[in-house]
Amino acid sequence: KGLFTYDPGFVSTAACESKITYIDGDKGVLLHRGYPIEQLAEKSDYLEVCYLLLNGELPSVEQKQQFVDIVMNHTMVHEQITYFFRGFRRDAHPMAIMVACVGALSAFYHDSLDINDPHHREVCAFRLIAKMPTLAAMCYKYSIGQPFMYPRNDLGYADNFLRMMFGTPCQEYCSNPVLAKAMDLIFLLHADHEQNASTSTVRLAGSSGANPFACIASGIAALWGPAHGGANEAVLAMLQEIGDESRIDEFIQRAKDPDDAFRLMGFGHRVYHNFDPRAKVLKLACDQVLRELGIENDPLLKIATRLEQIALKDDYFIKRKLYPNVDFYSGIIMKAIGIPTSMFTVIFALARTIGWISHWSEFHSSPNRIGRPRQLYSGERRRDYPG
Ligand code: CMC
Repeated sequence: KGLFTYDPGFVSTAACESKITYIDGDKGVLLHRGYPIEQLAEKSDYLEVCYLLLNGELPSVEQKQQFVDIVMNHTMVHEQITYFFRGFRRDAHPMAIMVACVGALSAFYHDSLDINDPHHREVCAFRLIAKMPTLAAMCYKYSIGQPFMYPRNDLGYADNFLRMMFGTPCQEYCSNPVLAKAMDLIFLLHADHEQNASTSTVRLAGSSGANPFACIASGIAALWGPAHGGANEAVLAMLQEIGDESRIDEFIQRAKDPDDAFRLMGFGHRVYHNFDPRAKVLKLACDQVLRELGIENDPLLKIATRLEQIALKDDYFIKRKLYPNVDFYSGIIMKAIGIPTSMFTVIFALARTIGWISHWSEFHSSPNRIGRPRQLYSGERRRDYPG
């Protein structure tokens, strides 16, 4: 009692026990409820993975259909929520709007906020998974001054999202199965990643008994930073800043310079030291999307490919085990699909919501106590107020 370890950045502190996701960073292993991410990416889809993360087992065919039906039934948001949007500037960052609107859901769906009731927890999970794409697409529509598109519950989860993003009341969105599959894959690969900064934030907020919508809003806030979810947006900003293949070397040198704060965005990971298994899967999907759209020669994408090749051969990156991470390729795919960079982190938040809510649910269904980290005080000793 009274003794504690000092572990800045929580590199060696397990703050909880969890049965949801296993990572072996040295071997590049990521398992959800025991299933390897590569197998889920190949054989499953996002909503099935949502079921798996939440319930611990894969669903039967009937269970899956029922799950999909319930989620798709909750896709609409309360009409009053549109007033929230109208209060924002059109050029507001969509993550700022998401933090506000997701937190505000607790003001609309307070019929099921008893965190000790498993049924209430489940209803909140359904509502969150279902409404995140609707809110995300509303952010985009608001930013470009187009009318919000209501969800279509007969469409697949990813297809419905793309339609709400790119359809208009005067022109029906023309669905493309390759793009819908790639979008679904991005959702699936971002679904959970154990105790990263945002998930730990959600668990910590949840430990005080805060309602799930408020907790997820705190996760969205933590995800926003460029060292976490904001990296996919930062990747594209970096590619734009590089601007031309002839300037790649200059940026590689800057990334290696200890006196320069610049880092190659989309490279490196706190836990994966050999490769990020999600990045491997996405790289293949990335090639497929670029081929499908016939834009392999897009200048920005060419810079990305070249950067990846150079960094993978450079001693600095090899020695520090800095490989392209999931955000490197997801950013490129989303750019190819036509999603603006400011929406990238919103899409990460949309996809990670299932991970957050699964951890929040796990916390509340096991014995728990409020999280209360300690600190190493390095301030002034006791001193007397002058006079
Ligand atoms: N470019 C250049 N050098 C780097 C980079 C990079 N992207 N990442 C790490 N380093 C260097 C760093 O300077 C340090 O060098 P030295 O040992 O000479 O001082 C060494 O590698 C170790 O870095 P660290 O900061 O101690 O590593 P970390 O585990 O604390 O940071 C990271 C992990 C992901 C925050 C970091 O690699 C980074 O900032 N990457 C770029 C941002 C990014 O892509 N983030 C997305 C992460 S994946 C999605 C997610 O989980 O949200």
